[in-house]
Amino acid sequence: MCGIVGILGKGPVAEDVIDALKRLEYRGYDSAGIATLENGHLAICRAEGKLRNLDQKLARHPLKGHSAIGHTRWATHGKPTERNAHPHSGKKVAVVHNGIIENFRELKEELIAGGAHFLSETDTEVVALLVDRELRAGRTPAEAVGAVLPRLKGAFALAFLFDGEDDLLIAARKGSPLAIGLGTGSTYLGSDAIALGEFTDEIVYLEEGDWAILTREGVEIRDVDGAVVTRPVIKVPAAALMVDKGNHRHFMAKEIYEQPEAIGHTFGHYLDLGAETVTLPDLPFDLAEVANISITACGTALYAGAVAEYWFERFARIPVSIDIASEFRYRETPLPKGGITIVISQSGETADTLASLRYAKEQGQKVVAVVNVPTSTIAREADLVLPILAGVEIGVASTKAFTCQLATLASFAVATGRAKGVLSQEDEHRLVRALIEVPRLMTEALKLSPEIELLARSLSKAQDVLYLGRGTNYPLALEGALKLKEISYIHAEGYAAGELKHGPIALIDEKMPVVVIAPYDRVFDKTVSNMEEVAARGGRIILVTDPKGAELAHVAAMQKLILPEMSATVAPLVYSIPVQLIAYHTAVIMGTDVDQPRNLAKSVTVE
Ligand code: G6P
Repeated sequence: MCGIVGILGKGPVAEDVIDALKRLEYRGYDSAGIATLENGHLAICRAEGKLRNLDQKLARHPLKGHSAIGHTRWATHGKPTERNAHPHSGKKVAVVHNGIIENFRELKEELIAGGAHFLSETDTEVVALLVDRELRAGRTPAEAVGAVLPRLKGAFALAFLFDGEDDLLIAARKGSPLAIGLGTGSTYLGSDAIALGEFTDEIVYLEEGDWAILTREGVEIRDVDGAVVTRPVIKVPAAALMVDKGNHRHFMAKEIYEQPEAIGHTFGHYLDLGAETVTLPDLPFDLAEVANISITACGTALYAGAVAEYWFERFARIPVSIDIASEFRYRETPLPKGGITIVISQSGETADTLASLRYAKEQGQKVVAVVNVPTSTIAREADLVLPILAGVEIGVASTKAFTCQLATLASFAVATGRAKGVLSQEDEHRLVRALIEVPRLMTEALKLSPEIELLARSLSKAQDVLYLGRGTNYPLALEGALKLKEISYIHAEGYAAGELKHGPIALIDEKMPVVVIAPYDRVFDKTVSNMEEVAARGGRIILVTDPKGAELAHVAAMQKLILPEMSATVAPLVYSIPVQLIAYHTAVIMGTDVDQPRNLAKSVTVE
């Protein structure tokens, strides 16, 4: 996920950059680096490993520049070596980057064809060299960045420092957050406002697609179309920055919006984007020998497991059984030899999930824990920990932890399929390519928010809501219904679309909204038939689909939420966004306590 810092200061700024990076070290610590202007010219210092290595290096070779960018890295493209550490540079520009440039291969080929020489394995260097090429062609820094940004595909944040430009930084946000701090005669930039608390309490958050030209006088912000825009200056006391909602009204909204970045972080850990392969930690068992999988969890984590059931069965052809942890622990389930148990838990402390882990271990199974809190009891007691790396989740209703669980489980399922020989190398490459598109697709999906807010006005008047889906969208229907009831207190049920006629259809009338999650896939036609059954009984349909699905579905009384086209494998990750936003906006309209809904707890350590 990486941390970015930028400072235009009144005196030497290297120490302040290090201090700010320290507060961002939670975002990664594979390497760190800084670029300053020494006598007007770019100077770069980088070190492998934790920030203290960079600090020590700077103590030996101090940098005295008054303007700088800095970076702490969580490796995605390329190993965590000094060569791959940020900043990356051309002759006239240095850049730090957080996120993934999806189309870096084709851009790299284009640059190499033009005679460029690459020094690292990163996707970031492509950005440095593209901007450098524009600068050398005589463009100004703003023109150069403005020309390059539209060419970059992916979800990312960037900060640039230019040779000979002591009073200039340029920053861009597309899918990964950036905050700007306004001082008196000094200006700051950080991936997270937490980094800036020491310097100022006046924060401007860049919005999606914004890019900003920073000088010591202040900041000029341009939107995605290049138009100069104004973003509010928010007064944030230093203490409040420690648990920061950014410019969101609720932690839940912040966490929904953080997902492109959080998922990028998770994939950065499990996918080798250069080799297009999945990389898992050393396993305490032979993946090729796993004969069956038992999955157990509670709440939202259980639904992540239910999506993964489809993936393990399809990619690895391994039979999977999934169970609610509070049932699993008492059912005396015989756990077959040669199997593994996967427990999934955001907190890593849920009592029933922990008891299930202990039961599985007693039965001689190896236990894999998919957890967010790496120091938790479940993590400590498992044979293997697969961290989901979602960062702290504060909203009681789980959002980013759910999609990061999915990202981790998808990676694990692909690795298992490969180890089993069910997936070919080419299949693995194809799936990894599909997975790395998720942050960008999620950023697109977030743009549906205003439309969903309007829709939520009518949903908030409903007494009951039905969610339908097939395949991996069935667990997502369950999750959608859970989210809605958790935070809006509206009764909701999730059903497999094919089950509609076996009972829930009796509930349908013109007052009952039915949310149908149906991308155009191999079961789309079947789901459309189920929608027709609803429409024939006067039900109101909200169809969440893609352009092809929207074109083909013709049913009365229907509203459509249209997402971009994507591979069926990644649909549950991306379709989670509208599902979460439906619940969020409805709850906000209802005026409930979104972050701390009644009767619920974030971590349930009792039975
Ligand atoms: C509680 C939370 C849910 C969560 C569930 C399981 O019910 O409110 O959001 O999904 O516990 O928690 P875990 O920490 O094990 O994922």
